[in-house]
Amino acid sequence: MKILLLHSHPVESSYGAALHAATRESLQRAGHDVDDCNLYAENFNPILSREERIGYHDVPGNIEPVRSYVERLQAAEALVIVTPIWNFGWPAILKGYFDRVWLPGVTFDLADGVLTRKLTNIRKVGVVLTYGATRWRAFMAGNPPKKIATRVLRVTTNPARRVTFLAHYDMNNCTAETRAAFLAKVKREMERF
Ligand SMILES: Cc1cc2nc3c(=O)[nH]c(=O)nc-3n(C[C@H](O)[C@H](O)[C@H](O)COP(=O)(O)O)c2cc1C
Repeated sequence: MKILLLHSHPVESSYGAALHAATRESLQRAGHDVDDCNLYAENFNPILSREERIGYHDVPGNIEPVRSYVERLQAAEALVIVTPIWNFGWPAILKGYFDRVWLPGVTFDLADGVLTRKLTNIRKVGVVLTYGATRWRAFMAGNPPKKIATRVLRVTTNPARRVTFLAHYDMNNCTAETRAAFLAKVKREMERF
């Protein structure tokens, strides 16, 4: 299966980067063809410009500023995201990826006010997240990234399939043991993704 792997941690030596490497290697070991899109390493520009907003609905010309990213998304059969949670959301670079690349004519068509799903090539979605907050604190905050992953991404891609949701909460109190256990879980889950 062709898998688009999105990663958004700025530091190469971070635990997040280790999760990214383990995810890529596990998916490859399982025989998948991984398109590794490391947004910081690729210096992705997350700012949706004035011109892009004006041309946002102009299908198909709207894809021109991000054509290569659209082509990578359209070539994928599954999507896996490895990212830390910042301000109970995606890091800006990943949020900007969605704003700029998941465009009308790419992820959905809008005709006479009716929205049709278009990203039907993506059959499976998985997310690997790290939170500073405890599971309880994230729950009390409404856990927006969990909802975006398990509901928004699901409804935008393949509503029939549950999103694989893997999270290490409470990174503020993590230990070598909790990090190793989560890394092992991510490897296991990605090998059978
Ligand atoms: C800018 C920034 C904002 C953050 N906001 C949150 C937050 O709202 N909720 C949360 O659970 N953790 C938050 N964190 C903690 C990160 O999720 C945590 O540092 C990360 O998951 C652990 O990976 P790292 O230390 O390798 O970056 C934030 C961290 C940063 C740097």
